[in-house]
Amino acid sequence: MKEQLEKIYTDAVADIDKASTVKDLEDIKFKYLSRKGEFNEIKKGLKDLSDEDKRVVGALANNITQKLESSISEKFQLFYEQELNKKLEKERIDVTLPGQFVPHGHVHPLTSTTNEIVSIFQSLGFSVAPNSDSPEVETEYFNFDMLNVPKDHPARDVQDTFYTNVGENVVLRSQTSGAQVHVMEGQKPPIRIIAPGRVYRNENINSRKNNFFHQIEGLYVDKDITFGDLKGVLNEFIRIYFGASRPTRFRNSFFPFTEPSAEVDVQCIMCEGKGCRTCSGTGWLEILGAGMVDPNVLRGVGIDPDVYSGFAFGMGVERLAMLKYAVDDIRLFFNNDVRFLEQFKG
Ligand code: PHE
Repeated sequence: MKEQLEKIYTDAVADIDKASTVKDLEDIKFKYLSRKGEFNEIKKGLKDLSDEDKRVVGALANNITQKLESSISEKFQLFYEQELNKKLEKERIDVTLPGQFVPHGHVHPLTSTTNEIVSIFQSLGFSVAPNSDSPEVETEYFNFDMLNVPKDHPARDVQDTFYTNVGENVVLRSQTSGAQVHVMEGQKPPIRIIAPGRVYRNENINSRKNNFFHQIEGLYVDKDITFGDLKGVLNEFIRIYFGASRPTRFRNSFFPFTEPSAEVDVQCIMCEGKGCRTCSGTGWLEILGAGMVDPNVLRGVGIDPDVYSGFAFGMGVERLAMLKYAVDDIRLFFNNDVRFLEQFKG
């Protein structure tokens, strides 16, 4: 019996040596160690032996079983490691490969220009009017009536203003100046606000004009505000925004809601004043309209023009961006061509 056991053991060891797959090992395990396996068959014969032999042969059988179990599980472990290594090799990641390019968005140049202008005026003591004081869809009351624009003024004409069919007298605002009325109706002087936003005009589109664009309205109402204050604030703004050396000029102008009125031109950066397509040959681009708030406007919102005075201005964001970054066509801001927009990163 002893010999039989030893023979099975040598056979099993040889089989284990030869095994080359997990399946082979499972078969070996079944052949030798299962309940129907060879050892069990022999163990069944133990009961016929003498007590002494039982002890010796039983111990031997147990010893051999244990040795086989541990060689089989060692080999299982080996196969497992080999499989793992193969898998790792196959799925190896090359960390030196260049990564995938994910394009990053960034702030639109009109937004960054608006932010810059807003922060300059904030540094000069102006605060931003709440959105509700500066709606894009307006009634004629705010866009024109309260701004002293006569009923027959050509600016009301469908040529310039987009009328809606939402309701009678509802327009897409043609200027941010309506914000002046909203703010003054809700607040008494001193008032020092700016109101950025989009405006719409039925224009023929060209390199300088689009049928919607952006303005920043400014309003300062208090006692003893003069045209000198207006000039001082605007000059300071221009100095900070463009730097000291950019030629600018104040020009006489007319707006129904300011008296006296002015416009400010900045020398065209594209031609340095020589005259080009962008400035239509004049060498200058208008950036804003301004003036002293007309007494009629103050009276309309219940502010006594004998006690208070004020100035207002409305500047064009696109024009200011064009003049700073030498953009020769306003339409570039609206085409969303990444080759253009990318130039304003960071
Ligand atoms: N609203 C005027 C325009 O759109 C600009 C302006 C604003 C003029 C405030 C005077 C005062 O052209």
